[in-house]
Amino acid sequence: MMLRLINLKFFVFVIFFILILVCSNKTFAAEGGPCKDYGECDKFKYSLNDLESLQRGASTYINYCYGCHSLQYSRWGRVAKDLEIPEDIFFENLVFDKSIKPGDLMTGAMPEDAANWFGVTPPDLTLVSRYKGDDWIYTYLRAYYEDSSKQYGVNNLVYPGTAMPNVLLSLQGNQKLVCKDIPEIASNGGEKRDESGKTITKEKCGFLEVEEGTGQLSKEEFDSLIYDLTNFLVYIGEPSKATRERIGWYVVFYFLIFTALSSLLYREYHKDYNK
Ligand code: HEC
Repeated sequence: MMLRLINLKFFVFVIFFILILVCSNKTFAAEGGPCKDYGECDKFKYSLNDLESLQRGASTYINYCYGCHSLQYSRWGRVAKDLEIPEDIFFENLVFDKSIKPGDLMTGAMPEDAANWFGVTPPDLTLVSRYKGDDWIYTYLRAYYEDSSKQYGVNNLVYPGTAMPNVLLSLQGNQKLVCKDIPEIASNGGEKRDESGKTITKEKCGFLEVEEGTGQLSKEEFDSLIYDLTNFLVYIGEPSKATRERIGWYVVFYFLIFTALSSLLYREYHKDYNK
């Protein structure tokens, strides 16, 4: 009887442990903020072991974003090391100010009076993936559209009225809000049809569409560029995240084995009591 009770406890403990593990990975990590006029944010799944993606992201960031946004809690040398870019190649290609040393913080390349240019100082982005969520960033950077009423001729569905210009416009092309005829859905979930069997459609607006031939990249290439960029921002927000997650699995594994061993030991000791 005693033994069965212990086994049950052990079983519940293991299940509980696995549940915690699954939850902390899935539910809490997916911290997407609300994407306003866009609706649900697009889902983003980071891959911090994909060093090539992180390297491409770093390069895009430094070329297109670093001019306005610092990463003031990171150091150049650490990024080069974590991303496994040899320091000489890194400094040659990605660090434009030659007085910078590996131990320096990435304090940005923006002059002090920059706030006046945009009305808002471009925020530091070291921790942006932590407070906005990676889903939010991934969606935000792909949700610019043409809007002539705005200062830079663009607006954003995720961040309406943003003070940030669409710095990737030449790559993505001119994205517009368009209207489309979409099938009406009946209450049973199927498409509504008229007597002659033709689908009944309704005009709906607010879809994003890039004007063909205006961008240097195709939609897939642009999405993948933003994927790499967002992946890099997730890395920068917590440089040890990949290591932490890897060690986490070892620790859980260790605990499982340790629990099994100690339960065997417990049984062994208990043999003496039950005599
Ligand atoms: C010309 C300067 C400029 C450049 C270049 C620029 N940004 Fe911005 N960015 C801004 C400004 C200004 C804001 C603040 C917008 C606001 O709050 O209205 C901003 C806001 C943001 C935000 C929202 C941060 C927050 O806390 O709300 C993100 C994310 C962001 N930028 C990412 C990027 C990325 C990624 C790039 C490179 C592709 C980039 N930015 C390039 C000026 C810039």
